[in-house]
Amino acid sequence: MGIMISHHTRTRVPDGPSTAQLAAEVEGRLRQADKLVLPLEQTLDLLAQLQEFELGRFLLHNRGLNGYWTSYIFQYSPGDATSSPVEHWLLNNSLLRGGRERFHRFKAQVAECVTEAAVLASIPCGAMDDLVQQDYRSVERFTLVGVDVDAESIELARENAAKHGIVQHCEFLVRDAWQLDLDGELDLVVSNGLNMYESDPRRLAALYRNFSRALRPGGQLLLSFLPPPPPPPWEAPDRAGEWDRYGVTEEDLRNELSLFGDILQVRYLNFATEAEVRAQLAEAGLTVRSVTYSSTGVMPIVSAVRLS
Ligand SMILES: C[S@@+](CC[C@H](N)C(=O)[O-])C[C@H]1O[C@@H](n2cnc3c(N)ncnc32)[C@H](O)[C@@H]1O
Repeated sequence: MGIMISHHTRTRVPDGPSTAQLAAEVEGRLRQADKLVLPLEQTLDLLAQLQEFELGRFLLHNRGLNGYWTSYIFQYSPGDATSSPVEHWLLNNSLLRGGRERFHRFKAQVAECVTEAAVLASIPCGAMDDLVQQDYRSVERFTLVGVDVDAESIELARENAAKHGIVQHCEFLVRDAWQLDLDGELDLVVSNGLNMYESDPRRLAALYRNFSRALRPGGQLLLSFLPPPPPPPWEAPDRAGEWDRYGVTEEDLRNELSLFGDILQVRYLNFATEAEVRAQLAEAGLTVRSVTYSSTGVMPIVSAVRLS
């Protein structure tokens, strides 16, 4: 069994003693911190509010997201009900919006790969929305492969595929993405939300080698990454303009850095430049065909092919 690098609890985390104990530990750390983005009382208030809703508790325990909560965030539409003001802020104002925007751009690129007899894989699949939500009516034969190390995510993906009436076209593997053991079988690998949990460039190159080996010659990898953000405008006013494309107010940015940085210390903020990603993919035997940025999005999409 491989190592789950995004989370360790199941989806539902109770508002019980384990959450209270964890929150007390975080509070102790915050009280000792030399520097916080928001004043201490405001930071502790955010910490208290995080414990009031399920997504907040999951984030507090895991400092990352599983398949269920990733899907919850990407499938949210502005105006949908939320369970608390902080959850409303997370879904509407935080940079998680950038991930949602990337999800929809990814979907459009995957649609171009829906061809007769195609074998399309999502690694890690989570709920597998990226493949399951495609329109397959124009093809008779196709196979979808969902790979995730978390059996709970695989179950979710299976239910999702069944709901869309395509489960008979799916294969599911509970497997570590670093030990895929797939050889020249796939026409497409889509991968979101795994590389950003990994800080070791050698492990990233190994991950991409696994993807490359799993593709047939001519097969395509679609992947996103997190470019390093500019410094906060209050620390580098001369670079404040670089934040314009992120579409966040200074107040939202302070909340963002307080919540995901000071309080949660999330584990997925491993940034990579386009040059670094290109070099890692080249080392894995993949040739980059395009890197697409959007005017508002924070996550570029890379398309790379295995040539031989
Ligand atoms: C942020 S979610 C992304 C899920 C999906 N790609 C999406 O965009 O909705 C991260 C996923 O990575 C999976 N994961 C974590 N470590 C893994 C590993 N070593 N091998 C395969 N999957 C892993 C988790 O179980 C989780 O489903």
